[in-house]
Amino acid sequence: MNILVIGSGGREHALAWKLAQSPHTHRLWVAPGNAGIPLERCGGSGREAECVPIAADDLAGLLRFAEEERPDLTVVGPDNPLSLGIVDRFQQAGFRIWGPNQRAAQFEWSKAFTQNFMAVHGVPTAESGVFTDAHSAKRFAAHLGGRCAVKADGLALGKGVLLTQSMEEAERAIEDIMLRRVFGGAGAQVVIQELLEGIEVSLHALCDGHVAKLFPTSQDHKRAYDQDEGPNTGGMGTFSPAPFLTEDELLDAARKILEPWQRGCTAEGINFRGIIYPGVMLTANGPKVLEFNARFGDPETQVYLTRLENDLVELLNASVDGTLRHVELRWSTHASVCVVMASEGYPGAYERGRVITGLESVAALPNVKVFHAGTGRAGEEFVTNGGRVLGVTAWAPTLSEAQESAYAAVDLIQFEGRHFRRDIAAKALGHGPLFA
Ligand code: AMP
Ligand code: GLY
Repeated sequence: MNILVIGSGGREHALAWKLAQSPHTHRLWVAPGNAGIPLERCGGSGREAECVPIAADDLAGLLRFAEEERPDLTVVGPDNPLSLGIVDRFQQAGFRIWGPNQRAAQFEWSKAFTQNFMAVHGVPTAESGVFTDAHSAKRFAAHLGGRCAVKADGLALGKGVLLTQSMEEAERAIEDIMLRRVFGGAGAQVVIQELLEGIEVSLHALCDGHVAKLFPTSQDHKRAYDQDEGPNTGGMGTFSPAPFLTEDELLDAARKILEPWQRGCTAEGINFRGIIYPGVMLTANGPKVLEFNARFGDPETQVYLTRLENDLVELLNASVDGTLRHVELRWSTHASVCVVMASEGYPGAYERGRVITGLESVAALPNVKVFHAGTGRAGEEFVTNGGRVLGVTAWAPTLSEAQESAYAAVDLIQFEGRHFRRDIAAKALGHGPLFA
């Protein structure tokens, strides 16, 4: 098959790496991709994977490319093209494409839709309300004693959520989002949730419109600095499995969340084909959904795909074709850890073009894979070209060994101002940051 992957991050490199391994894959394009993509070779042909310089949200450009090259399958990584309706557009033009259509992707692009859906269909979530005027929003915040998560309705590129501890902070957050529009038009409507306490885990399930196949657990690290300090980011590192849940507890959480979610989708005529990714807080009163995403997590994908034993081309085909019930997901028993190496200043402003060294030494290590995210080429050299630069991923029989080996690889990779957390997976191992 000839496959087109859309996106440019570490998630898309991981998808490309895993799709390329399949003997079904003859050609693989990634639009726009990154400098790591051409390192992969297609299992069915030996051909190099190719970057195509078309932006992930340039639907017209992507469709023109599809008309020319006729991919057998298109795989959508990021949320933005999904929310713009790329799946609908490709299907109308007669192309097979993997990902939820625009209506199903509402779980990602409208927090207000999602919150109402959870209330109507009995998906466990925080006490919450949806508001279009600041006055009612503040009244509800007061009811919660000012301890809230204030969320702009639309896509705000991983931002758009302010956590508040007092009424003063809550009022400021509501005014920032609704009146000062710090997240732009996304702030016309807000969701306000009670502030939940507990351990956060990422769940993923692959869906085909009929069944949802649950992945193992993983955990992301959203804050920029060690000990969960500093600003929120797209994700600074992940590990899987997340041993905060036993297998039974995971199945119980999934039953409480995914069963009502699926019944709700059926009742509302939503045909969800793709990944549903609930962000879940494990609270004293059971698991509660903070948000749904309608795509693979980044950097969750990096740890999941280094554990997945199935052929990913076959899995995504089954998701598109509605035949997942015949498929069993198989996961290796090893643990996987991904440490994100970011640019100095991320998630704020950062410079690009800094030379990255040490990648060849890491390429020689067993059971380690460096997924590129914000990278480019300057002649023979790899250079930084984004906030999150690399996802250094290692796998081993135990979480502790995987962590050790991921950090040993990180140590070999240098670029000016490189910044990474030193405590990825430390919470699961019951100790503080490594090399503190
Ligand atoms: P979201 O984009 O909705 O996942 O929110 C971003 C982050 O804010 C989450 O990963 C949580 O760490 C935090 N968060 C969101 N909602 C809540 C909540 N109701 N209570 C506590 N923390 C929250
Ligand atoms: N890992 C966070 C996200 O993908 O949204």
